[in-house]
Amino acid sequence: MRQPPTRLLFVCLGNICRSPTAEGVMRHLLKRNDLQAALEVDSAGTGDWHVGEPPDQRSAAVGARRGMPLSGKARQVTAADFQRFDLLLAMDRSNHQNLLAMAPTPEARDKVHLLRDFDSAGQRGLDVPDPYYGGPEGFDAVFDICVAACEGLLLHLQNKDRAPAAME
Ligand code: 4NP
Repeated sequence: MRQPPTRLLFVCLGNICRSPTAEGVMRHLLKRNDLQAALEVDSAGTGDWHVGEPPDQRSAAVGARRGMPLSGKARQVTAADFQRFDLLLAMDRSNHQNLLAMAPTPEARDKVHLLRDFDSAGQRGLDVPDPYYGGPEGFDAVFDICVAACEGLLLHLQNKDRAPAAME
């Protein structure tokens, strides 16, 4: 029988820069690896300032240039997300703390991780830096970081028995 898809929620502050980028990168990787049926992806923000807005133009422009289009409209994380999703992947330690504080049960807390902890080449505990008030290079850096981390996350999900550093 077919397994139900694993559901991933990428979470940042505004849900217009980093988490839509991680979502777009992961959609691209799923397509490239023919894994679209195995995983579902979405993104959300811990804040509500940008609810209903499309991804920031600066993030969208980098995505278009790299062949990883960004989509969706910003929304805020809800309590239901802790039931619906298997993993909630925080972009930075502040998002991570906020998600842990929102998690309604110990099982829900166990679903919350820092995205970069899945980057097999990286250290643990690193943030995806917030590019919002910075220059264009920050948006490119977010893409590079998300590609490395999402590739690691995908490997982890495909080899759950192997060295899951972020799940220890
Ligand atoms: P994001 O970036 O959390 O990566 O979507 C931000 C977007 C908006 C703001 C901060 C960060 N803001 O202060 O409005």
